[in-house]
Amino acid sequence: MSKNVKIAPSLLAADFSNLAGEIEKVERAGCDWLHIDVMDGHFVPNLTVGPFIVKAIRKVTKLPLDVHLMIENPADYVGPFADAGADSITFHAEACEDMGAVIDAIRARKVRCGVSLKPATALDPLRGVLDRIDLVLLMTVNPGFGGQSFMREVLPKIETLRKTFSGDIQVDGGINKDTGRETVKAGANVLVAGTAIFGRPDVRQAIEDLRCQ
Ligand code: DX5
Ligand code: ZN
Repeated sequence: MSKNVKIAPSLLAADFSNLAGEIEKVERAGCDWLHIDVMDGHFVPNLTVGPFIVKAIRKVTKLPLDVHLMIENPADYVGPFADAGADSITFHAEACEDMGAVIDAIRARKVRCGVSLKPATALDPLRGVLDRIDLVLLMTVNPGFGGQSFMREVLPKIETLRKTFSGDIQVDGGINKDTGRETVKAGANVLVAGTAIFGRPDVRQAIEDLRCQ
């Protein structure tokens, strides 16, 4: 078992009519972070949750809340999500012109800072900011929906990034036991999984399967 691999269940695949119960289930099962997907209907063609729900989630768990912003103008929402109790805020490089300003805003709130790239985006935007961020989220599907198929072409990007970045490399989209193993081999250390955790009857086993790389 690799103790270094962190597992972050994506709530997108949870039963929202019983959110507190679903969170308790994965917390008890030993996951490391809780991944919350925030979508605005502009940056991606889907809508999910805002700071109000993150605040409610904060009340029912001690897990670190890993907020993945798939929204335009992320700088405008750093404050509200930090106030709501986010422990890390990850925004998309494609969603803003001044990444430095968003990074500064997140760091100023003493929240962990992540930058995400879509599968087709090269690593170039990260040049010059890697020493100021804690996490890089390399999307392994096009953001917007759960339950999509893993895009294997992202693997070389993980390998290249790992050569120069010692922080967290997180992967998100189509991650299961098999694809997770490939990403860990390439250098990822934080696995986000929605379907492969909440879609299974035994979430403890699902988390163990993902962790045993
Ligand atoms: C997709 C989201 C993911 C999604 C992953 O845009 O960022 O977090 O919930 O879902 P699965 O694991 O089902 O691909
Ligand atoms: Zn996500």
